[in-house]
Amino acid sequence: MTRQRDTGGMFISFEGIDGSGKSTQARLLADRLTAAGHDVILTREPGGSPGAEEIRALVLQGEPDRWSAQTELLLFTAARRDHLERTIRPALAAGKVVICDRFADSSRMYQGLRGGMRREVDALHSLMIGIEPDLTVLVDMAPADGLARAKSRATVEERFEDFGIALQEEMRAGFLDLAREFPDRICTIDGARGIQAVSDDVYETVAARL
Ligand code: ADP
Ligand code: TYD
Repeated sequence: MTRQRDTGGMFISFEGIDGSGKSTQARLLADRLTAAGHDVILTREPGGSPGAEEIRALVLQGEPDRWSAQTELLLFTAARRDHLERTIRPALAAGKVVICDRFADSSRMYQGLRGGMRREVDALHSLMIGIEPDLTVLVDMAPADGLARAKSRATVEERFEDFGIALQEEMRAGFLDLAREFPDRICTIDGARGIQAVSDDVYETVAARL
């Protein structure tokens, strides 16, 4: 694995099912690290650079069957490549802490597990992306709780959130399997608690590695 910390920077991603609190926790961690004097950038996938945000709109808006599953995987990978080139690598080279709301583990789960294309996901990742975060925070919680939270948000980006409980259970189990596959990188945090309690746990986990 590429060690971003060799440059002084650190690459942290947040993963989990829809509505688990990733965005909330990523933002709180960014605030706390900034207050502690770190140079932090908060970013997200798909998106995080102007080109990748354009691809985000292509892939998350419009008719659900607009793209085949294979084309969609290519679009997520293209967005990630642009994000890496324009945002993540320059920030790490400048010694910053990069906090990313979703990264390649989301492709491993959504396109890999759910879409049955894990082999293709891994092949594209090693060909075109090639780096992993130094630390991935998996915000774990029961899908029923996550779905209730997600549904309370009305957005145009609905298509990926309309899976239903059974599929979200499968995704949760898949993320927990992934944490076992990458035990040195992925830390699982219990997300079914108050925002502050989760945030304290996340901060301790990150501080121990900074
Ligand atoms: P995600 O990025 O994983 O989809 P968000 O951070 O956007 O999740 O959170 C989804 C919704 O749940 C938001 O309305 C947010 O304010 C709320 N929320 C986040 N964390 C908690 C928590 N620990 N307890 C209760 N509500 C939460
Ligand atoms: P996002 O809006 O960040 O999800 P959330 O509802 O958790 O806030 O991401 C939009 C959707 O994109 C989400 O359902 C997961 C999906 N996605 C993939 O399918 N593959 C990927 O590689 C990424 C980064 C996201």
